[in-house]
Amino acid sequence: MTMLVVFLVGFLGLASAGKHDIYAGYTVHGVVIDSLAAQHLLHQLESDFDLDTLQDGAPPDRDAYIMVTPGNNEAFLKKLDENGVKHYVVESNVPRSLEEFDADMMRFHRSRAGREAQPFEYYPRHDEVNEYLEKIAAEYPDLVSLVTAGPSYDGREIKYVKISTTNFEDASKPIYFMDAMIHAREWVTTPVSLYSIHRLVVDRREEDEDLLEGTDWIIYPVVNPDGYEFSHTDERLWRRTRSTNPNPDTECRGADGNRNFDVAFNTTTGVSSNPCSQQYVGAGPFSEVETRYIRDVLHEYLPRIQVYLNIHSHGNWVLFGFGNRTLPANGVQLHHVGAVMGAAIDAVKLPQAPFYRVGNSAMLLYPTSGSAQDYAQHIGVPFSYTLELPGYSYAFQVPVTYIGQITSETWVGIAAQARLAKLHYNDRIRT
Ligand SMILES: *[C@@H]1O[C@H](CO)[C@@H](O)[C@H](O)[C@H]1NC(C)=O
Ligand SMILES: *[C@@H]1O[C@H](CO)[C@@H](O)[C@H](O)[C@H]1NC(C)=O
Repeated sequence: MTMLVVFLVGFLGLASAGKHDIYAGYTVHGVVIDSLAAQHLLHQLESDFDLDTLQDGAPPDRDAYIMVTPGNNEAFLKKLDENGVKHYVVESNVPRSLEEFDADMMRFHRSRAGREAQPFEYYPRHDEVNEYLEKIAAEYPDLVSLVTAGPSYDGREIKYVKISTTNFEDASKPIYFMDAMIHAREWVTTPVSLYSIHRLVVDRREEDEDLLEGTDWIIYPVVNPDGYEFSHTDERLWRRTRSTNPNPDTECRGADGNRNFDVAFNTTTGVSSNPCSQQYVGAGPFSEVETRYIRDVLHEYLPRIQVYLNIHSHGNWVLFGFGNRTLPANGVQLHHVGAVMGAAIDAVKLPQAPFYRVGNSAMLLYPTSGSAQDYAQHIGVPFSYTLELPGYSYAFQVPVTYIGQITSETWVGIAAQARLAKLHYNDRIRT
């Protein structure tokens, strides 16, 4: 017995010691963004120093978290110093912080041993997500239809659900379409989508009946399963898809799905044509099969989709188009509906989370092109948003114990947003 324990401990120790070695020597720095100049400088340095932005900064008081490779560390910090931009160390040992996150997950699963946890209470693997969707569709056939979008690049079945009391046939109802996990490392996004299904179908509450009766829902929990699984098995901080690049000169795989949509494709800063960059646009617009599936859902239901919510982690932002700083024609309503969502969440947030900030994504954060948010807005979805959930100080490694807070507070925001957007839909179908 003792032998076995020693063996197991040794084995687990070895396994976890190696798991995140790819990040050995990487460090994470907080960069104080107290001015637009500091924000611009950081964006310029991103490609020069191969920086990975774990948290976007915004003036006057939101610091950026930047991960830098051991080779670029010194030169990057020197550049910040030369320009008078303040910085501090957030994480000097990235592998260790990832191991702590893993240990936290294991503790959660051990503490739940024997009791069935719901997949929106932890970080379910892609198979578990599909099993959950299948189970819900089988148990609630009058409300839920399961749809298979098709295989991912690596052949995983991508599934989503449609939820409707009228079999999606009543055109007087708006559709609310949300998706999650376009960026692989943003793990907390999928539980938010699964919890929304739970609240609409399983845990139906009197006060929310209008949401189910008056709106149809499309909930798409994992846009990028290949990247998501890879972030579980190989690189925890993987962001992109996993397609093979057609250019034989590069071994870098995947594209940033949220730069791959056919809207002003590959035109601004905030995108990269370097196949190894985190913001790589891809070989062409919709080169990634995973973004094509989202495009197809948007077009299939376009006349009725009133809200599109592309869920990300993290930073407490409700963002809208366009990524080139031009506001859509309905900019005021877009801001209003987004602000109602943010304020509803703020009312029930944890004290350590910042208040949501709401606005145009290029003005608040940085210019982008080819984003899901912009594509949906551009083709005619009136209320198209990027939501950045809270990360507290954990960036992408939000401990499991916070998931319940994030899913339930976000549901409050989604509900408020859906109700207000529905009022606008009544105007839309009257005219
Ligand atoms: C993106 O734009 C850059 C700069 O104009 C160009 O070199 C590159 O080929 C473009 N990439 C794609 C996939 O269109
Ligand atoms: C900004 O992008 C939107 C969507 O692609 C486009 O309709 C608009 O004309 C662009 N604005 C400018 C100034 O290029």
